[in-house]
Amino acid sequence: MAEHVSPEVPAGERKARKNGLIAGVSEELAANMAQGWADTEQYDLEPLPQAAHTARRRAALSARFPGEWLVVPAGRSKVRANDIPYPFRASSDYAYLTGDQSEEAVLVLEPAAAGHRASAHLLPRSDRGNGEFWRDQRGELWDGRRNTLAESEQLLGLPCHDVRSVLEHLGRVAGPVRLLRGYDPEVEAVLSGRVTAEGDEEFRVFLSELRLVKDEFEIAELRFACAATARGFEDVVRVLGTDTPTPERRIEGTFWTRARIEGNDSGYPSVCAAGPHATTLHWVRNDGQARPGDLLLLDAGVETKHLYTADITRTLPVSGRFTPVQRKVYEAVLAAQEAGIAAVKPGAAFRDFHLAAQRTLAEHLAAWGLLGDRPVEEAFELGLHRRWTLSGTGHMLGLDVHDCAVARTEAYVDGTLEPGMVLTVEPGLYFQPDDLTVPEEYRGIGVRIEDDILVTADGRENLSAALPRSPDAVEAWLARLRG
Ligand code: GLY
Ligand code: MN
Ligand code: MN
Repeated sequence: MAEHVSPEVPAGERKARKNGLIAGVSEELAANMAQGWADTEQYDLEPLPQAAHTARRRAALSARFPGEWLVVPAGRSKVRANDIPYPFRASSDYAYLTGDQSEEAVLVLEPAAAGHRASAHLLPRSDRGNGEFWRDQRGELWDGRRNTLAESEQLLGLPCHDVRSVLEHLGRVAGPVRLLRGYDPEVEAVLSGRVTAEGDEEFRVFLSELRLVKDEFEIAELRFACAATARGFEDVVRVLGTDTPTPERRIEGTFWTRARIEGNDSGYPSVCAAGPHATTLHWVRNDGQARPGDLLLLDAGVETKHLYTADITRTLPVSGRFTPVQRKVYEAVLAAQEAGIAAVKPGAAFRDFHLAAQRTLAEHLAAWGLLGDRPVEEAFELGLHRRWTLSGTGHMLGLDVHDCAVARTEAYVDGTLEPGMVLTVEPGLYFQPDDLTVPEEYRGIGVRIEDDILVTADGRENLSAALPRSPDAVEAWLARLRG
């Protein structure tokens, strides 16, 4: 029998693949699919745990930009190939201000008599009657159930509208507008000519600085991220062979399993760097083998379901015991980290922890005869130690691994630490395998130790302290986990 193809194709019909197996839809099938579905509306949902915090964050934004429209998109998924997208992750600023993570959503703050009226524009549930739930490229049958707008209002604590009319809505706004650029080309197109590059940059910078001091919800998230990451490191130790090589990819996959089970994802590509790979700061190819006798540098973080990430590094002797030279380098890095962590306290310059750690590294390098005949102070001023220390000693941490990255320099690296800030302290020494300026026994050794430090009212708290750091404690921990 010939197939009857419905002439009524919903707008946005899932683009047929050139070689897709199913060509069309009969009127009978369309009618059949339109009926026979239960009402699954959910009532009396509790607000998201961070809803009170997101309201306060939006109020701070409102106070800074009175009388202006403010637009923060969640973003759109990126194409991997053809009709396959990369996994979607909402923009950190949208998640920060709403608690929501919906693809294509847009937060709009409309100027009002007192401050702003905030609304979230979201893709609602798919209509069953017109077939969009299964025939539209954004249909729930393909991607899963979404919330109704009423459900989203209960969860987020703010008015919610159908995002499919937001472009028309934004096209008609009167008055000054600021937009968070870089996430939604369609919103950018409709607002082009209404926004300025300088105004939007100021907006982006303010949003970044708003996140410098974490509230209690965020600190609890980071605490959980560190605890889950510690469990992921333990998982890795359990698969690390003592007499046979372990593929770096197995280490990566083992950690990622923990990240997916306890959180949303890894917060950044895991560095699983064995032997000389540990001297490459961002070794993410992870195509080598961790062999007994090697050090394994593991830099990984679980990103929570609310999108906060840990960022922790431990450098472990695969055999279970450091060799004397590995221990010597490790102890220098640990001393530098201790000096850096001790410099984290409210009122200190942000830079202090970096300077304290780097100075300690320079002193060790000088004591080992690597900085030449100059006094260590002079070599330090000239930065000669940096051949082996390479990177800065840390950064802010939160929704992004390199959090608050576009804050003004005076508010961040030239700023002052305040209670509620969370930063990494991560000194390292990296002796490249082909570095002829160091004794042969150092070549190919890379050590980094990285912890996540909360600035408290009277000092600091190491959120990642559950993972051992001293060489003896690391060895004992490896022995205990391996039975
Ligand atoms: N893993 C990224 C960093 O440590 O900054
Ligand atoms: Mn790291
Ligand atoms: Mn880091």
